[in-house]
Amino acid sequence: MGSKISGLGMYVPERILTNHDLEKILDTSDEWITTRTGIKERHIAEEWVKASDLAVNASKEALDMAGISPKDIDVVLVATSTPDMIFPSTACFLADKLGCRNPMAFDFSAACSGFIYGLTIADSFLKSGKASNVLLVGSEVFSKIIDWSDRTTAVLFGDGAGAVVLTSSNDESDILSTVMKSEGSHWHLLHCQVGEKLRMQGRETFKQAVKSMEQACNKALSKAGLTKEDIKLVIPHQANIRIIDALAEKLEIPKEKVYANIHKYGNTSAASIPIAMYEAYKEGKINRGDYILLTAFGGGLTWGAVVLKF
Ligand code: ACO
Repeated sequence: MGSKISGLGMYVPERILTNHDLEKILDTSDEWITTRTGIKERHIAEEWVKASDLAVNASKEALDMAGISPKDIDVVLVATSTPDMIFPSTACFLADKLGCRNPMAFDFSAACSGFIYGLTIADSFLKSGKASNVLLVGSEVFSKIIDWSDRTTAVLFGDGAGAVVLTSSNDESDILSTVMKSEGSHWHLLHCQVGEKLRMQGRETFKQAVKSMEQACNKALSKAGLTKEDIKLVIPHQANIRIIDALAEKLEIPKEKVYANIHKYGNTSAASIPIAMYEAYKEGKINRGDYILLTAFGGGLTWGAVVLKF
């Protein structure tokens, strides 16, 4: 048994916060944010909008593309660090809002690496025959845990959701290899304590991110028996364009083969890779049958990479 990616969807809130808007509330500039991060704007949810609301819209699109009814989903997985509540899970709210029929539903937290971890969880359910259709969503409302007076973090994040439907198949799995890692002793580099706001040591996180993603990418490629030349597109977590460029350089992969849409959304944490995958597909940068390499790094620390035959 294998798993096929049968649907993709994304959703971002309507409200856009530009760098120029941030100039009015923080001691920062469009020039600093653009040159240090590559971000020009991000989408911010209204106060009453929750992670499950963003997830519903992204999921509906993914279900439509897969041609699957919410009633056929047997597992709902939500990767989020900004859940609706501590419990019930955002996945339970999502399943109810979609009209699913009593699926197994749970959240998990791996910060910005959530989607990479989630692909492995989904693939395991499908390969083992324990599920037929899995809905995996990365959905985040980081605007709610940002300290809007801290210019070192407030400019970096945005809200959004990306969803995929994975379906069991008798063919070889679309997920060819996965690498997932963590290092809890570095938790202090990037964290958000319960009831408090996000804190990050940016410079050290940057160094760890490039090194860890490079290692994970090379390992995932060798596990899949592929080389970087086989890869049509690398889709990295969108945290900083300089991290993405440094990764491309370390992997010796031309920048054109490394996808970036960070200028429009900022860092949407667990949602960033499925949103980027969706846009790369819609822009014709990836087609069915292409090999793609996904990689992420985030709080935990957590990191990983996945090679897919899309
Ligand atoms: N506007 C203007 N100046 C600023 C701003 C701002 N928004 N933010 C920081 N500065 C200043 C600093 O105060 C500092 O000033 P000083 O030299 O007078 O002390 C100067 O700019 C340089 O600050 P650095 O932190 O060294 O800047 P750096 O080039 O490292 O960029 C950044 C900071 C963008 C945060 C970068 O380090 C980064 O992207 N880090 C990694 C983020 C990441 O990958 N996170 C992981 C995923 S997130 C997750 O898992 C939830």
